[in-house]
Amino acid sequence: MILVTGGCGFIGSSFLLQWLSEVGEPVVNLDLLTYAGNPANLASLQGDPRYHFVQGDIADSTLVAGLLARHQPRAVVHFAAESHVDRSISAPLAFAQTNVLGTLKLLDAAFAYWKSLDRESAARFRFLNVSTDEVFGSLQADAPAFTECHRYEPNSPYSASKAASDHFVRAYFHTYGLPTLTTNCSNNYGPRQFPEKLIPLVIHNALQCKPLPVYGDGMQVRDWLHVDDHCRALRAILERGRPGETYNIGGRSERSNLSVVHAICEALDALRPRAGGRPYAALVTHVKDRPGHDRRYAIDDSKIAGELGWQPQVMFEEGIDQTVRWYLAHQDWVSSVTSGAYRQWVEKQYSGESTVPAEA
Ligand code: NAD
Ligand code: TYD
Repeated sequence: MILVTGGCGFIGSSFLLQWLSEVGEPVVNLDLLTYAGNPANLASLQGDPRYHFVQGDIADSTLVAGLLARHQPRAVVHFAAESHVDRSISAPLAFAQTNVLGTLKLLDAAFAYWKSLDRESAARFRFLNVSTDEVFGSLQADAPAFTECHRYEPNSPYSASKAASDHFVRAYFHTYGLPTLTTNCSNNYGPRQFPEKLIPLVIHNALQCKPLPVYGDGMQVRDWLHVDDHCRALRAILERGRPGETYNIGGRSERSNLSVVHAICEALDALRPRAGGRPYAALVTHVKDRPGHDRRYAIDDSKIAGELGWQPQVMFEEGIDQTVRWYLAHQDWVSSVTSGAYRQWVEKQYSGESTVPAEA
């Protein structure tokens, strides 16, 4: 079995759904259920004997050590993080707490567990650290895309905290020999993304005829990757990646923010035209820029493509259309996460206690 952290978030939940449907190996999901963690993302796994949920903090060393000893996973796939740049600007300490200290404590527990394994299991074990391309900083418009050798130049408290955690992962490989893998992935999009991030926020606001906030001139560029492609890449790296290595993952879909917002508006114009016939793009509103806003991210994916044969399967136009359709069909999900109703459900369901499955 494998231990996944942060599996109730956007990417973690997509990973778990894909993993159980295509790999089928049992999973323990350790998630603190912060505002971004939503167990309803995994409602379809309820009652599935291959899925075990534990509410808890990656920084709780006793809990993590107990889970590792009890379940004997062959891998840890580490998604848990504070993930939103704007929140990191207003409250950076939580990012140091979870992304840096939490990752360090998780690594330390994984290392102690790994040392206790027999030779064969130790050789097979992997610690997969899911990171971001934002650690590399900002690219000029005509600069070559990020390779794995690009200097770390994080510019936001979020990317600084992810960079620090990547360095600790590297150190655990080099100093202690823990078989680690790190991935640096570009911006993801797809179903179940919390509507604080650009794409779901724009869909959500548009449907309420609210302004669509574009920071600054909107010409910042991101390389968008469908979350299912990211999860396929993580699986390839987990199975065939070389310990100690880092792998860049990208979508081959560089787009300016403004063009992303317009693509969403056009999809909505076709699927859910506004009353009165005005285009959704009329709601686009330029607002104050994000402080320290990185201008461009771009990924050179030749390493993962060449070594592991991975490449993105979902092209942006198709993916954005599917994503808009998912949000239109799941307005109940959007209302529950935006109204806080799911938080009340979580509190009632788990009563603030760790819920280690009875069999565990
Ligand atoms: P998310 O914010 O949607 O989910 C984070 C999850 O981690 C939530 O379920 C939350 O409850 C959980 N969590 C937070 N703190 C925790 C703690 N201390 N202990 C246990 N669980 C905790 O994030 P996401 O967008 O799914 O991102 C997942 C990972 O992928 C992050 O590490 C992020 O840095 C990385 N990443 C994200 C993107 C992207 O575009 N979203 C791109 C590249 C890399
Ligand atoms: P976001 O989804 O927050 O991801 P990240 O900051 O990790 O790249 O933002 C994507 C881009 O969209 C980023 O350049 C900031 C911009 N943006 C807006 O223009 N308006 C918004 O309301 C948000 C949330 C983001």
